[in-house]
Amino acid sequence: MNDSFGPLTHFLAEDHRRLENVLQRAVARVGRVDQGVYDQFRAGLLRHIGMEEKILIPAVQRWTGGEPLPLAVKLRLDHGAIAALLMPTPTPSLIVTLRKILDAHNLVEEGPEGLYETCDKLAGGEIELLLGKLRTAPSLSVLPHVDTPAVLGAVRRALDRAGYEYVGDRPSS
Ligand SMILES: [Fe+2]
Ligand SMILES: [Fe+2]
Repeated sequence: MNDSFGPLTHFLAEDHRRLENVLQRAVARVGRVDQGVYDQFRAGLLRHIGMEEKILIPAVQRWTGGEPLPLAVKLRLDHGAIAALLMPTPTPSLIVTLRKILDAHNLVEEGPEGLYETCDKLAGGEIELLLGKLRTAPSLSVLPHVDTPAVLGAVRRALDRAGYEYVGDRPSS
């Protein structure tokens, strides 16, 4: 990773790469998802989203005197779509859709004036405190998959709200 990145960017972008690797391991065998590894991916991704929603975005808001980060609305809609996609059974089209959204979302967070660069710029003397909070963010456990019409409808609406298309056959509801 580029050494010019600040410590928060470094820490969180590393977590993106780690999660990409876990997902890759979960789907490494064609036609079969390793559920145990996929559950590690789901738990890790929900924890990562929690760090952003509960630690980083509120910190930015505090540093800017209550001014909401313009990107925060988009990031939260993306998080809603991503979290919704973690609920149903991971079909091949779901995995393609999830990866596409994550790739775009991670670029926005890691990119110029993204969430992470903004945090590195504004954190000042709070960097170590913040890194400590991120490192000790609670682990999460995940629930079994649910494929009911209500859940598939919620997935469809969360994607629509965030402006994403479901790749392949859309989940019906
Ligand atoms: Fe995020
Ligand atoms: Fe992220």
